[in-house]
Amino acid sequence: MQKANHGHAASYGNDPWTQDAADLIRDIFETRCEVFFVFNGTAANSLSLASLCQSYHSIVCHELAHVETDECGAPEFFSNGTKVLTVPGPDGKVTPAALDRIVTRRSDIHYPKPRAVSLTQATEVGTVYSPDDLKALWAVAKSFGLRIHMDGARFANAVVSLNLKPKEITWQAGVDVLCFGGTKNGVGVGEAVVFFDPKLADEFAYRCKQAGQLASKMRFLAAPWLGVLRDGAWLRHAAHANQMAARLEAGLRLLPRVKILFPCQANSVFADIPLAAADALWKKGWLFYTFIGQGGCRLMCSWDTAEPDVDAFLADLQAVL
Ligand SMILES: Cc1ncc(COP(=O)(O)O)c(C=O)c1O
Repeated sequence: MQKANHGHAASYGNDPWTQDAADLIRDIFETRCEVFFVFNGTAANSLSLASLCQSYHSIVCHELAHVETDECGAPEFFSNGTKVLTVPGPDGKVTPAALDRIVTRRSDIHYPKPRAVSLTQATEVGTVYSPDDLKALWAVAKSFGLRIHMDGARFANAVVSLNLKPKEITWQAGVDVLCFGGTKNGVGVGEAVVFFDPKLADEFAYRCKQAGQLASKMRFLAAPWLGVLRDGAWLRHAAHANQMAARLEAGLRLLPRVKILFPCQANSVFADIPLAAADALWKKGWLFYTFIGQGGCRLMCSWDTAEPDVDAFLADLQAVL
């Protein structure tokens, strides 16, 4: 960001920083994808989903998906009414059977035609889709002509958790478009929309502009990506966050009356903590939500969570319990 803040550069993404960051993303995914930088995840998700669908289509996603529960109807709004259809599934994941069921439930003209499936990687409850999970979903998606969208707000955490190359859990597993999260990985502002099928990116720049997502000083959105991608900091950040979550989970397992709700595979831990204890933690100044996922306390670790932070939280919880 500091390096980009010198002299002048062409506007609206026609600057060397944006070109270099997009090229680096192409290198990381080892393919010629189309890349756009937008301000936040809601815009990345809803605009990319809108580019896959007509207004009479539907998007299938998990019932806990951010696009369904936390985007204030933006995917429907920006697609002019495409309906979001939700499915249940264990550990926050869409299953091939659930996808098949909701698509085949109806085939008449009165049903919004399923056109896309949206998968969150890592999921809203801190689990990850393996390549086998993704390929099984791809087989079903392909058989019904559905496009695959991936909400990758925590994509880096999933890459590290699975110890795979980014391509193995994206275009090599059928993903058409990825919303690649920057904010949660240490970038100041912004997400990258990565189209693996370049045809789908046709006119996407117009969508961004119309939605107020085309930054005039794009270099300030793009340059921090160079900072995190160039020397692998994005993976170091994610590995650190995942390690802190693992440390937190291990500590929580030792405490009485605390129950871990989902496998800890990325940077979050969901724990059932007695309400009085959660209340006492809030009063001590700890910040966490209980309304995300299926209840329980949602404890997130980030790129800069320090071991003493985790240990202090555990000590406070032990004391209030
Ligand atoms: C799964 C998921 N997707 C997307 C987002 C990004 O949302 P936004 O940047 O619009 O707040 C988040 C943020 O919490 C998220 O958890």
